[in-house]
Amino acid sequence: TTTIRVSPAVLGFSAVAHSLEDIAAVPAGYSVTVMTRLGDPLAASVPAYANDGTDTDFAHRIGDHGDALHFFGLSSAGARDDNSSTRGLMVQNHENLSTQYLHPNGPTNVSSGPRPEDEAKKEIEAHGVSVSEYADGGDRQWSYVADSSFNRRITPMTPMALRGPAAGSGMLVTAYSNDGTAGRGTINNCANGISGWATNLTCEENWAGYFRRDASDVALRTDRELTALARYGVSVRTGNYAWSTVASTDPMFTKWNATITGATATDDYRYEPNQYGWVVEIDPYDPTSTPRKRTALGRCGHEGAFVRIAEGQKVGVYMGDDSRREYLYKYVSNATWDAADADASDRLAIGDKYLDNGTLYVARFDADGTGKWLPLVFGSVPNRPAVGTAPEYVFADQADILINARLAADAVGATPMDRPEWTAGNPVTGEIYLTLTNNNASNRPLDGTDAANPRHYGDPKLSGSTSYGNPNGHIIRLREDGDSTDATTFAWDIYLFGADATDYPSDASVNVSGLTTDNDFSSPDGLWFSRESNPAGQINPVLWIETDDGAMTDRTNCMLLAALPGNVGDGGAVTLTNKDSTGATMQQATIAGAAATAANLRRFLVGPSECEITGIDMTPDGRTLFVGIQHPGERGDAATPTSHWPDSQAGSAAATVRPRSAIIAITKDDGGVIAL
Ligand code: FEO
Ligand code: CA
Ligand code: CA
Ligand code: CA
Repeated sequence: TTTIRVSPAVLGFSAVAHSLEDIAAVPAGYSVTVMTRLGDPLAASVPAYANDGTDTDFAHRIGDHGDALHFFGLSSAGARDDNSSTRGLMVQNHENLSTQYLHPNGPTNVSSGPRPEDEAKKEIEAHGVSVSEYADGGDRQWSYVADSSFNRRITPMTPMALRGPAAGSGMLVTAYSNDGTAGRGTINNCANGISGWATNLTCEENWAGYFRRDASDVALRTDRELTALARYGVSVRTGNYAWSTVASTDPMFTKWNATITGATATDDYRYEPNQYGWVVEIDPYDPTSTPRKRTALGRCGHEGAFVRIAEGQKVGVYMGDDSRREYLYKYVSNATWDAADADASDRLAIGDKYLDNGTLYVARFDADGTGKWLPLVFGSVPNRPAVGTAPEYVFADQADILINARLAADAVGATPMDRPEWTAGNPVTGEIYLTLTNNNASNRPLDGTDAANPRHYGDPKLSGSTSYGNPNGHIIRLREDGDSTDATTFAWDIYLFGADATDYPSDASVNVSGLTTDNDFSSPDGLWFSRESNPAGQINPVLWIETDDGAMTDRTNCMLLAALPGNVGDGGAVTLTNKDSTGATMQQATIAGAAATAANLRRFLVGPSECEITGIDMTPDGRTLFVGIQHPGERGDAATPTSHWPDSQAGSAAATVRPRSAIIAITKDDGGVIAL
C-alpha cells in the first residue's frame, strides 16, 4: 500500500451549500452509494424488503434509525484484518423507530395500547444492533453481502451477560436472572466506542422511556427506589410504544412493565430498568458470542464511549450522558495497556481485563480553564443531598454507585452540561472533544450559565421555552494533565460554538466562532476523528461533526462538517453579553478556541429531508467514508411520506415511496483520500 503524507493537512473540497433537497448532497467530485437500508435482509432466506408495512422478521433484517457505525476489517480469507479497506463488517446501532412507516397504515393504539402482538414484535426487533458484511467489488464499488455468515442482529431480546462490580447486585435481579448476572437485550443504542482489541461498544441512551410503571407501583417502592427511578426518568406512564399492553405472557412484551406485581424481584421485572443504561461490548467477528454489559463504566443515558489507548497507560473511556444538565464521565482501567492484547483472539476476555476493573470519574469544569475528575468510589462519595421531595440518598455499595451514577455525580459536585453527546479523541494529541448539543432556558436559565456552558441568547425562529438558552450548542475539549489517561486534572477550552450565520452574522456573543453560511451549523451531536491509519490522521487529523438539529432546519437539513480543530489553548478568554427573553443581561467569561475559518471548518454533506446525520467511519485507507442517515421523513405519515430517500437520491421517486434510514458510502471520483 502507498502512503500519502499530507503535512499539514488542508481541507481540499468545496463547501456544500445549505440544502432542503431530499438527497444526500456531497462536494463536487464525490459520489454516494447507498448501502444497508432499513429492512434489508441479513440472511438468504429472508425476502427482499417490500417497504409497504407488510414486512416481518426484523430479527433478520437491518433495523430502523441507524445510528453509530464502525467498519471492522476482514481479510479476503474472512479473518479479522484491521488494515483491510476492501472487505469488512459494518456494525451499526438501531436507536429507535419511525413506526408510521413500519406498518401498512401506521401503528395501532401506539400511545396507550392495547398493541397488536405482530406490530409490537416488529418494533422491538427493529431496535438493537446489526452486523452486516460489506465488500468492495473493485475500485470502491461497495455492496453488502446479504447471505454472509457474519451477519447478525442483536435485538432487545438477545441474551447478555452483566459484568463488573454491579453484576450480581440485588438491584439487577429479574424473573429472567434470579442472581442478577444476566439480562436480555439492548435498546436505544445511540453512539458507540471502539476498543483497542477490535470489539464494539454500543451505548444505551434513552432507555428509560420504554418502561411502563402503573400508579400502583408508587406505594410499593422504597423512598430510595423512588429517588433513583425519578432521577433516571422511569416515571408512571405506559412506556414508549406501549409494548407491555400486548395480550401475551411472552417476556418480550411483559418485561417492559416495571411495575411491582410479584412477591419478590425474582417474580417480576421491577428491576428491568436497571438492566439498561450501560455500555455493552460486542465481538463482531463471533456471531455466536454473548455481549457483555460493562457495569464498571456506570449507568446513565450513555451517548458514546470513546476509548483512548496510549502506550504504557491505563485505558481511558470518555462518555457523555445525553440529557440536559447531565455530565461527562471517564472510566480508567486498573490494568496498564499491553499492546499484545490488541491481537488476542478471545476479545471479550480482553474486555474483562480492561473494562471490568477500574475507576469511574465525573468531570468538573472550573472557570479558570482547568478541570478535575471526581472519583465515584464507595466510601468517598458523600450522600446525595435531598432535592425537592426526594430525601437524602445514602449509597449502599459500589454497585449502587454504578447503577445510580447520576446520583453519585450529583453528590460529588460535577458540572451539569448543555446535553453531552459524542466524545472523540484526537489520535495525535490525545485531546478529548465533547459535543454539547443544546440547552434551553427552562433547564438552564440566564443565571445558570457557567464558563463551560456560557452562552444564553434567543433564536428568533423558535418559540416558547426552547427559544432562549443555547439553541445551537457548542463543542468543548480537554487535554489531560501530563497527557495521561489517568490524570485527575485537565485543561479545557471551548473549541467551537454553533450559530445560524444568517440570523447572527456578526454578534460576537452568539456567533462566537465567526461562522459563515459555508460552515454554520446547529446542534452538534456525532463527533469523530479520521482514523490514525489514514493519511489525514498522520499530521493534522480531520474532525468530523454531525448535526441533529431542529433550530436551523428551516434553512438547511442536518449536515456533516469537516474541521482542522487545532489544540486546547489556541484561543483566549472571551466575555459574552448574554440576554434572556425578558431582556435581562448577564456577562459570562469563558475560554474559547480560535475562530473558525474557511480553511479550518467546511460543510461536507447535507442530508435528505428531516434526517439526522448519525454514525461515521472510514476505511483504513481513508478513501471511503461511511455515514449514517437516520430517520429521513420522520414527520410524515404512511399515506404522505415527507421524504422518499434513499430512492430519491437518484433524482426522483414516487410520492408514495416510504423513506428508510440507511448508510451511505462516499467516495472521491478520482479515488483519493476523503476531504483532502
Ligand atoms: Fe441518540 Fe444523544 O442522540
Ligand atoms: Ca446522538
Ligand atoms: Ca442528539
Ligand atoms: Ca435521532
